[in-house]
Amino acid sequence: MKNQGAIHAATSPAEPAEDSPVRNWWLRPTYDLRSKVPFRAIMRVTKRGFENNLADEDLTKALRAAIEGNDLLTELIDASAPLSGGPLARSVLTFEGWDEWRLSLSPQGEPARGTTWRIPCGRLADGSWRSVLGKVRARQATVASPPRLPGAAVLTRREHASVEVCSASGSRVIFDPIFRSHLLGCQDAMPVPEPGIAAAFVTHSHSDHFDLATLDHLASLGTAIYVPEVPRHSLLSEDMHRSLQLCGLAPWICQWGSVAQISDMTVEAIPFFGEQASALVRPSEADARNWGNCYRVDTADFSALLLSDTGADPAGSMLDAISTSVQRRGPVDVVVGSLRHLYMPFEVDGLHSYFVVLPMAGLRSDHDCWLRGRLPSSTLGICGTAAVCAEAGARVFLPYAHGLTGYGQPIAVNPLGPGPEIDEAAASAALSAELRRIGCGTVVTNWNPGDSWTPVREWV
Ligand SMILES: [Fe+2]
Repeated sequence: MKNQGAIHAATSPAEPAEDSPVRNWWLRPTYDLRSKVPFRAIMRVTKRGFENNLADEDLTKALRAAIEGNDLLTELIDASAPLSGGPLARSVLTFEGWDEWRLSLSPQGEPARGTTWRIPCGRLADGSWRSVLGKVRARQATVASPPRLPGAAVLTRREHASVEVCSASGSRVIFDPIFRSHLLGCQDAMPVPEPGIAAAFVTHSHSDHFDLATLDHLASLGTAIYVPEVPRHSLLSEDMHRSLQLCGLAPWICQWGSVAQISDMTVEAIPFFGEQASALVRPSEADARNWGNCYRVDTADFSALLLSDTGADPAGSMLDAISTSVQRRGPVDVVVGSLRHLYMPFEVDGLHSYFVVLPMAGLRSDHDCWLRGRLPSSTLGICGTAAVCAEAGARVFLPYAHGLTGYGQPIAVNPLGPGPEIDEAAASAALSAELRRIGCGTVVTNWNPGDSWTPVREWV
């Protein structure tokens, strides 16, 4: 690739054929224990203790007072963690299993608005739950793949952290599809891709990246599903392979460093560092991790790195992981990444339970850093993304994973209410300034969900 490429505006979707009273379904494990833990209240007590410089004995007393009288909480939370130096979560909470799942149908929006069934784990595999899905008619437009010249590959932005890559031969792969999810209004706002996608890859188990209904839809059309390896499921990570298998799908596992050949494309699974309980402190149990993959796609026309929500943590840094990939397979043309900052475990959005796996001394030192404004983001953010672009030798940066305002619409600040949307134009401008500051020539290119990017070839 010789230059920064070109953006092609979103293709117009076809209108949905029919409406339906039941439009969504969700199937999720039931976590009876964690659902009863008041994580935010426990965090408040802990932070107040740190702010008031409470001795370990006094912080223990405050935590005991917060949970006393609740037998279940005393089984799940170790109030003497300040004295022992261990984590607040006992193992039974960190590695909680499940005996049953819940299947919900809903007209639209949250599952609470619909009907819910409790399904024993042992009954999932027989597939009888699928009889209920006959009522679901997803009212969703479809969109044709973007126009493509023969022999040219295309990268298309979809909902939130989802992108589709179409190779020179016309083979297609999709990453982190959640277009059947109510989350971020995806099912209302995002058209369904046309059938024929060869493979879907998932980066990690957070619900804005992993959606069973979407993957089930794709698998029913013949799409192969690839998920990261989860050595041990925990409060931080669902074992996606096990969940999908239980629901009757036949997913593949991509281990770190593995390469999948999908027609004339290769997809390399790159380690997922960052977005952990802390950027600086290891959890007391090493397996308590947000397990995942990033992916590098190589087509005949370009290579692209999809960074998801990554950054750095005590186990490793994306800079090193990308450096290894570059040494093995050469520089990357396009970096696709999120510019959000996430100051774990204190300034978080939806990950408010993660702090309980950290050793208390580490939680206290993180808090000190946070008060002094020195706690690093667990995700790459602006500066980390600029460093990655330089390491990858990227010509172009394309933003993603900032939410969803609407098909073909720029991402604005929280247009749909609480959620991970950010003002993408402002974040992109800040990244451009940082790239200039470090002398990196990567060009930040703005695009909207539905838009496509192609390289532009030099006449030689
Ligand atoms: Fe995430």
